[in-house]
Order: sequence, then C-alpha cells, then structure tokens
Amino acid sequence: MNLTLKVWRQANSESKGKMETYQIADVSPDMSFLEMMDVLNEQLMTQGIDPIAFDHDCREGICGMCSMFINGEAHGPDRLVTTCQLHMRKFNNGDTITIEPFRAKAFPVIKDLTVDRSAFDRVQQAGGFVSVNTSGNTQDANAIPIDKHDADKAFDAATCIGCGACVATCKNASAMLFVSAKVSQYSLLPQGKVEATERVMNMVKQMDEEGFGNCTNTGACEVECPKGISLENIARMNREYLYASLKG
Ligand code: SF4
Ligand code: FES
Repeated sequence: MNLTLKVWRQANSESKGKMETYQIADVSPDMSFLEMMDVLNEQLMTQGIDPIAFDHDCREGICGMCSMFINGEAHGPDRLVTTCQLHMRKFNNGDTITIEPFRAKAFPVIKDLTVDRSAFDRVQQAGGFVSVNTSGNTQDANAIPIDKHDADKAFDAATCIGCGACVATCKNASAMLFVSAKVSQYSLLPQGKVEATERVMNMVKQMDEEGFGNCTNTGACEVECPKGISLENIARMNREYLYASLKG
C-alpha cells in the first residue's frame, strides 16, 4: 500500500505544533500500525528529519502506552484493540491517515505524539491499592468464597490498561471510565472493602484536581475503550461515592 500520513509534529510542550504530511510506500497489510510508524521513522532519519516521537512498550495490548488518535479515533478504526494491535489491513491503498496525540488538558503533549499521562499515576496512588497484610500469614486463595458474578466483574474492571483512550475520546476529557474501573476492581472483592470509603473519595478528589472534565453520560469512552470497560463501572463508582459522602 502507498499511503499519505498527516502527522502532528510538536518539538516540545511549549512550542506550537502543526500537521506535517509524509508519503510512505510499500506498506504491508500485515504490518502493525506501530511497525508502519517505525518504517516511516527510518525513512525520515535517512532524509535527515527528526523521527516522530511516540509512546510504546509491550506492543501486545497490555501496557497502555501506545496513545495515538488515528483518523479521529483513539487507537484507530478497529474495535477492542490498541494502536499496537491495529493492523494496516484495516486501511486501503491510497488512503490518507491522520495521526494526532491524545488531547486533554490533563495530558499535556511532551513531543509529537507523546503525552504526559502521569495524572493517571497520581489518581492510582490516591487509592488504587489494598492494605491487606500479605507477608507471612497469607490466607489460602480459596478460603473466602466470592460470588462468580462479582469475581467476573472485578476481573473485567481490572483489565483496564490505563491507556487514556477514554479521556482522549470524551468531549469533556473525563477520566470517569478509568477511575471507575480502578475503584470497581477493589470494591467488588472483600479485600477491597477495608478502604472502600476513603479510596473512592481520594481517587475522585485527585481526578478533579488533575483537571479532568465531568461525565455527561455520552458513552463515547466505552465505545473506544480497547478493553471494553463497561459504563456500569461509572454507575458503581457514583453509588460508592454517594455512600461514602453520606458516611463521611
Ligand atoms: S477504561 Fe479503557 S480506555 Fe480508559 S484507560 Fe482503561 S483501558 Fe484505556
Ligand atoms: S504498546 Fe503496550 S498496549 Fe500498545
């Protein structure tokens, strides 16, 4: 395939970015999107042009690093896949592809397609943990019976990889899907009940302080989430928050 790529270039967080157009030839439909970007970067370097900065790590849909907005969609046109798992067979010869960074006030651009998502780390640090003592006297895993539906829902919530696509997709740049997944993965299990009240209060407070917007139930986050995190988690977090506020 021969493609035209329109890519956001921005030297650093202070500078004004702009779209640049590049041509790329002989792209295999079996390449991943990031492999195509690697080929483009090799081409740019041989031309003496600064390669495009973009985040990636695992390249197998686990780490949540590969944050790109492709043709107006977080992680591109495919469903339930990250950018690293998106294949070039989803595009056609002659296509023009627009590639931008995830855009949100709480995710400032560092360079080109790389954004600072440390706001998510601070939300996690505010409450995304349990204080169960696991050193020396660990209970057998099967000693506490857990309802299968709760276990499944907790596991589903725990599949959130913290990629930020929900924020980038939301017109309000809300982080509710991410935060609610993190709250839900603990609140559904007995181990998470100990700090349930302070967890939801602290994580929501940190989320607000980081400058994420509010949720207005448009549901775009759920559509673009590569892990299929359900809006049901947001409803659960709202209930938890209300309960914690009344308790407080
Ligand atoms: S909820 Fe989905 S889109 Fe949001 S950070 Fe988690 S995996 Fe990414
Ligand atoms: S590079 Fe790890 S999820 Fe894409």
